[in-house]
Amino acid sequence: MEIEARRTPIQSFYAGQSIFITGGTGFVGKVLIEKLLRSCPDISTIYLLIRSKKDKCPKSRLDEMFKTPLFDRVKKEVPNFRKKIVPIIGNLVIEDFGLSESDNNTLINQVSIIFHLAANVRFNENIKSSTIINVNATATILKLAKHMPNLKSFIHVSTAYANCHVEHIEERFYSYPINHKDLIMFTRYLNKNVIEKKISRIISRWPNTYTFTKAIAEDLLRDESGDLPVGIFRPAIVLSSANEPFVGWMENMFGPLGLIVPSLLGITRFYHYNPDFRADIVPVDFTVNALIASSWEVFNQFRRGKDTLIYNFVSPVDGPTWHKYAYTLFDINKMYPLHDAIYFPLAFYFQRKIPYRICVWLGHFLPALLIDAINICMNRNPRMWKLCKKVDKFSNAIQPFCNNEWNFSTDNVQAMWSHLSEDDQQLFNFSMVGFDWTKYLIDHYMGLRLYLLNEDDSSLQISRIKYRRFYWIHQTLKIIFTFAVFWTVWIVFTIICT
Ligand SMILES: NC(=O)c1ccc[n+]([C@@H]2O[C@H](COP(=O)([O-])OP(=O)(O)OC[C@H]3O[C@@H](n4cnc5c(N)ncnc54)[C@H](OP(=O)(O)O)[C@@H]3O)[C@@H](O)[C@H]2O)c1
Repeated sequence: MEIEARRTPIQSFYAGQSIFITGGTGFVGKVLIEKLLRSCPDISTIYLLIRSKKDKCPKSRLDEMFKTPLFDRVKKEVPNFRKKIVPIIGNLVIEDFGLSESDNNTLINQVSIIFHLAANVRFNENIKSSTIINVNATATILKLAKHMPNLKSFIHVSTAYANCHVEHIEERFYSYPINHKDLIMFTRYLNKNVIEKKISRIISRWPNTYTFTKAIAEDLLRDESGDLPVGIFRPAIVLSSANEPFVGWMENMFGPLGLIVPSLLGITRFYHYNPDFRADIVPVDFTVNALIASSWEVFNQFRRGKDTLIYNFVSPVDGPTWHKYAYTLFDINKMYPLHDAIYFPLAFYFQRKIPYRICVWLGHFLPALLIDAINICMNRNPRMWKLCKKVDKFSNAIQPFCNNEWNFSTDNVQAMWSHLSEDDQQLFNFSMVGFDWTKYLIDHYMGLRLYLLNEDDSSLQISRIKYRRFYWIHQTLKIIFTFAVFWTVWIVFTIICT
């Protein structure tokens, strides 16, 4: 009783609850588990859907996951946390996730809160695979949730871009030219090429199959969730942590990092984006705090069906533009260059596609071919062409988000914030009013250097020497290039005149 009295409203809501999380092995899911374990100490159990992957069984995957630095803090603060994690072996692509009967019964009888994060986040996955994971699996979870007598809330994680076919995205459901039933039926009976042909006109309104299938999953929830306490959480581009469990945590190169990191390493240098458009980025710890609060809010607000609570969790209007994002990272790179860089880091942006493509061919692919030719002659592995192709594919996938800007309504997120007690606002901070973006971007760079590229200050002196060397090589090449251009013009001019 005494312990209860010291808990905040959100902590009390989670006390004694059994939570089912899908996607808990992903970037956002891991941070969610870490925060729940650390800040909601009275949670009873976290059931974590997990599959075998790359010859690793679920148990060894979990052991590896908890060895990562992300969980260092929770290990110290909640030493017995592993007892609360119960793996549920399952795969979204299998009918009813392939759950054993006993796991199925455990989930039905025990679970009171669901966070459905698992998704196929590959932007250009074929429509059939994307639908099976992003739509059909949501239908399976919903079916399971309908049997749970203790269910208090079910949060489905969508994306802020699910409705990017409209310019002003409100926190409500939208209608689509195809419904979930037809799409699910297509995936059952047709092959991927036939489906693609059948609905290519519809899909073309979205930049990729990922956002399209996320939209159709929302359609499914509107029509099928009935009386369930469902909420939809739509984050923008989720990047490194601002504060928790420590500053700058990240673990993958999705989003803008897939373009920036190759440039910081001197591999690529041209971008296609509108410098004035907002980079809709949100820190992962703020995202997870809002996600945790949304479950509490959905339970309290009791909104159902078409009136379901939807949260657009996006960066505020004073968030950084793409230009500020890219150039802040390049500025910090001057002081903390990367040890593995292969050339002087450069960044040039284009707003028009044709000059950008010309520069990509001349400035990325042509040098890649030359370097690969040299590598082949020296009996070394030619990998630059492949690398540039990969970055180019990634760049094409992300360009719609760097060359368009959306307005988002965030009334529900703001109302949720105002409903939090002062203690909860401290414990689960997700307000980005007055957020220090410059500090965040500096920490973001340091995080990518440390956690993605495994570079700490021990290699800094060598990196700085390398950086200076690359600088002079680049200046020398620039002079040679300028001289060669003038010389060619001079020769052509003398030939014409004589
Ligand atoms: N990250 C962002 O910027 C962002 C932005 C907006 C919305 N979101 C949404 O947030 C959620 C989490 O994103 P994330 O960045 O954490 O993604 P992520 O790192 O790619 O994680 C995806 C998760 O889904 C699981 N999953 C995928 N296919 C599965 C399958 N067949 N069976 C079982 N599990 C499967 C993965 O499990 P394995 O580990 O076994 O592969 C992983 O746990 C997604 O719903 C995404 O749409 C993310």
